[in-house]
Amino acid sequence: MIPSVLIGLPAQLRVLYDRDPSVFSPAGPRAARLATLGWTMVVVATIVFLFVLTVLLLPLWRRRNAPLVDGPAPPVNERAWVLYGGAAAPALVLAGIFILTLGAYRSAAPAGTTLTIEVIGHQWWWEIRYPDHLVQTANEIHIPVGRPVKILLRSVDVIHSFWVPNLAGKTDAIPGITNTSWLEADEPGTWRGTCAEYCGMQHAHMALSVVAQPEGEFARWVQNERATSAPPSDSATLDGEHVFLTSQCVYCHTVRGTQATGTIGPDLTHLASRLTLASGTLPNTRGNLAGWIENPDRIKPGTKMPAVPLDAAQLQAIITYLESLK
Ligand code: CUA
Repeated sequence: MIPSVLIGLPAQLRVLYDRDPSVFSPAGPRAARLATLGWTMVVVATIVFLFVLTVLLLPLWRRRNAPLVDGPAPPVNERAWVLYGGAAAPALVLAGIFILTLGAYRSAAPAGTTLTIEVIGHQWWWEIRYPDHLVQTANEIHIPVGRPVKILLRSVDVIHSFWVPNLAGKTDAIPGITNTSWLEADEPGTWRGTCAEYCGMQHAHMALSVVAQPEGEFARWVQNERATSAPPSDSATLDGEHVFLTSQCVYCHTVRGTQATGTIGPDLTHLASRLTLASGTLPNTRGNLAGWIENPDRIKPGTKMPAVPLDAAQLQAIITYLESLK
C-alpha cells in the first residue's frame, strides 16, 4: 500500500474521489503499465546507486585493512573504468529504460475501441464532447468500466496537458493539432485529472473528474446528458430562468432547450448533475455556486467569467434555476 500522496486538496473536494491521483495507484491497464515502469525505474536506480556507492567505498575499506607498504600504488586500468563504467554501463541501462518507456507510453487506443471523447482545453476549463452521442458537457468525463475509450485532445488557446494519473499518463492539448490518448478503468470510481502544462494564472485550478461506471449506469448518464434541459416546473425556477435568460450569462453559456446559446464558457444544460464547479475547484453545492457567480475573480483570479451585477433576489433566483438543471 502506497502512503497517501499530499495533493493539497481541501477535504470537501477530496471526498469526491476514490483514491489519491497518484501514478503508483493505477485503476486501469494503461496506468498499470506506467506504474510498473515507475517501479522498475525506482529499483534500477537503487541498484545503480548502491553499486556506485560500493565502488566508491571499497578502496577506502581495503586501504584501512592493508598493511602499510612504501612505494607506488598498484596500477589501475583507468581507461577501462571510464569506458565500461562511465559510458557502456549507463548507455545500456538508459537504453533499456528508454525501450520500456516507449512501450508504456504508446498513445494509440487498442484496436476495436468504439467510444471516442473529445477533450478541448480552454483557459481554464475542459470542454467535453461525445461526438457519437451528441453529448456536450464540461470538466467531467463519464466512461464505462472495462472498455477502452479514445480521447481526442485539442486546445482553443494555449498548450494544456491532459493527465488523469490513476488512468493514463500526460498528453498535451496543443492549438491547431489533434493529439490522441486513451483511457480504460478496471473498476468503478471517480478519479481526479488535472492540467499538467503551465497555461497561465489559473493552471492549478484546471482539473477534471473521470467517473467510471457500469455500462447500464453509463448509458443512463448519456441519455440524460443528450436531452435538453427540463423546463421549469415551479414559479421560483421559472423566475430564475427569466433572470438567467435576460442576464449577460447567455452571451457565454448554453442551456440547450432555451435561448441561451453562448459558446465561450461551459455548457450548463446539466450543470446540477456535475460534481464540481469552476473546473474541479469547488464541490457543486448551492453555497459554492452563489459564491462563484457573485464574484468569480475571488475564487479564480484572472478567470474570464465576469461578475454579473445581480441583486440578492436575482442571485437566489438564478441559483434556484441552475440547481434545477439536473
Ligand atoms: Cu491548462 Cu495548465
